[in-house]
Amino acid sequence: MSHATAVLPDPVADALVAPPRHVAIIMDGNGRWAASRHLPRVAGHREGARAVKRAVSAAIRHGVKWLTIYAFSSENWRRPAVEVLDLTGLLRQYLRTEIAELAANGVRIRFIGDRDRFDTDIRQDLAQAEHATAGNTRLNLTVALSYGARAEILAAARAMCEAIGEGRLDPDTVTEQGFTRFLSTDGIPDPDLIIRTSGEQRLSNFLLWQAAYAELAFLDVLWPDFGEEHFAAAMADFSRRERRFGARPG
Ligand code: IPE
Ligand code: IPE
Ligand code: MG
Repeated sequence: MSHATAVLPDPVADALVAPPRHVAIIMDGNGRWAASRHLPRVAGHREGARAVKRAVSAAIRHGVKWLTIYAFSSENWRRPAVEVLDLTGLLRQYLRTEIAELAANGVRIRFIGDRDRFDTDIRQDLAQAEHATAGNTRLNLTVALSYGARAEILAAARAMCEAIGEGRLDPDTVTEQGFTRFLSTDGIPDPDLIIRTSGEQRLSNFLLWQAAYAELAFLDVLWPDFGEEHFAAAMADFSRRERRFGARPG
């Protein structure tokens, strides 16, 4: 083995130095993946669902305890009806076939977002998946479905106003910490690292409150091609960041 090979940095070892507690992923690029292969968009979404498995196993392998994935935004309902139908169909299929494996791997699954917009059978499957995995602790997987951060923050503000109106809450005592109790992510730590695939560099209404001090990683890979090596590279990148939270650099 040459000397040059021996000193190459090992991204996995790097990342194990201080893994982020919570990684969130904006899974983008399914449509472009399909288009580049002259396939219908649904083929990209189907392949994207397979990539979720790789992200979950990479998170477990890296000791990450919280993984949140953006699967469908509140704005994605604006897509053509056929694509929405394809996406909800894939979701239905995913919930029926994949939850058992997640449960067996010690994954606890939660869903955030406006689930009332989904059909009754899907809503039942979402509740069932949360219930069936509630006792698991190896990885906390949160799936954002029909999720939009502005809608989430607005709903939280409304619920807080209601609590104040009913005399259950004193507005003078509300803190940032207290406000987060009204968000759908109550009990979930803020993301340390947000990864977005596909090369786009925006948050698209994802975790706007929670992302205040998240490190951002924009990867030039389309989501269906995402693999453990991309997760490892993002972790290695994260381990080299200096997080300051507004304090003076040390
Ligand atoms: C991400 O892939 C999946 C969803 C947003 C549901 P896209 O469907 O946005 O793929 P692109 O961005 O068009 O390539
Ligand atoms: C963000 O991707 C939502 C998900 C990945 C689920 P979009 O593809 O919907 O975002 P924009 O439209 O490019 O901002
Ligand atoms: Mg997109």
